[in-house]
Amino acid sequence: MSASRIRILIVDDVAESRDNVEKLLRFEPDVEVVGKAERGQQGIDMAVDLIPDVVLMDINMPDMDGIQATMAITTRVPSTAVIMMSVQNEPDVLRRAMLAGAREFLSKPFSLDELIEAVRHVSRLARPAVQTQVVEQSESGSSTQLRSAADTKVISVVSSKGGVGRSFLAVNLAVALRKMTNKEVILFDTSMHFGDIGVLMNSGDSKTILDMVDQAHSLDADLLEDILFTHSSGVRVLLSPPTPQDAEMVTAEHVRSALNVLTQMADYVIIDTRPGFDDTMLTVMDASERMLLMLTMEMTAIKDTTQFLEIATLLGYPHDRLRMVLNRTNNYSGIPTRDIAENLGREIEYQIAEDFQAVLNSVNEGTPLVDSRPDHRIVQEIRRLASSMIDVQTADATNATEGKAPRGGLMSRLRTAFRPS
Ligand SMILES: Nc1ncnc2c1ncn2[C@@H]1O[C@H](COP(=O)(O)OP(=O)(O)O)[C@@H](O)[C@H]1O
Ligand SMILES: [Mg+2]
Repeated sequence: MSASRIRILIVDDVAESRDNVEKLLRFEPDVEVVGKAERGQQGIDMAVDLIPDVVLMDINMPDMDGIQATMAITTRVPSTAVIMMSVQNEPDVLRRAMLAGAREFLSKPFSLDELIEAVRHVSRLARPAVQTQVVEQSESGSSTQLRSAADTKVISVVSSKGGVGRSFLAVNLAVALRKMTNKEVILFDTSMHFGDIGVLMNSGDSKTILDMVDQAHSLDADLLEDILFTHSSGVRVLLSPPTPQDAEMVTAEHVRSALNVLTQMADYVIIDTRPGFDDTMLTVMDASERMLLMLTMEMTAIKDTTQFLEIATLLGYPHDRLRMVLNRTNNYSGIPTRDIAENLGREIEYQIAEDFQAVLNSVNEGTPLVDSRPDHRIVQEIRRLASSMIDVQTADATNATEGKAPRGGLMSRLRTAFRPS
């Protein structure tokens, strides 16, 4: 397992093809096959896990074709170079492969020389992976009790549109989980510019993520412990910066570092987000075992959510990592829930009723509804949601704790892919 070898992942639905390629490469001293996948989705998952230098990707596969899988891999693991392998070498296929971010194209059947030359070529060109700093927890130095990040459940509340109730749900879910389990729950507000968690939980002028920016290189649990705001429920909160101007100081890299440490400090990390697919959002999505995708009963929310689901699929996030939450359900919107589900092509797993006054009072008092109105219907619905999060299997997410290369931002990757040459 020499570190200098070129690490290769083979993605091909035909076992014989996979084995042939592996055999061809077996005697090359500078390459190493680190994995083989037989489906596009599996290829994406393995690429995210293994961060290979090169992916050898078949085009024709059932379920998800190699071009879609390439798009997801080049977006999510930008340090990996993809070589397409196909019997079809029509210009259109070639063009689509290159637009998806493939660096080379091998037409089947190919010789060992062609293969190895392509592999060496793309790995020379490949952008070196940006190493993230994962600060080792020193055994002796830290007074904070650390747990295994692998057991921590990371749940994000996401949406394609603002104002659908993410912050409201994030707060109440965190408090509900804390009350139900008495475990360590940390709420992380990654809505950096206009984060609302501080107001919703009455945090006063507590420290925020801004206070870790200068010390991000030596971030550890003790340091974060000092920054977290502790709510009366026992939920601890990593707040967003006090002003939008300050938000500019906080990068996706800081969010990654913070998540690396938070997952060692808590049993549950609940993340509030803002709309859009910026680097911070992709970092959060990569780290999440569950994404609660919220929408309301409005045509605009439904349309935006459909697009969110399409992008999530393009980026290779498995379907069941996302769960739909329909908020502010009422009987006057004119769009029944079953029509919304049909429109989205997805089941709506959770519903939260609308109660304008109860929610408004809770927001304006800075007291979570779970605390102030424990018997309210909305609270019962949130508790039901929380209890299903307790059963979530951990480690089916790309855990942010393993020092992987950061993924490129979605829009910048798409812009690069579609720039006319
Ligand atoms: N179930 C609900 N019933 C009534 N009002 C709600 C409900 N959920 C959220 N709201 C209101 O919707 C608005 C947006 O909620 P918020 O949590 O700030 O959304 P987001 O974080 O998605 O931007 C707030 O004014 C909040 O009071
Ligand atoms: Mg919000």
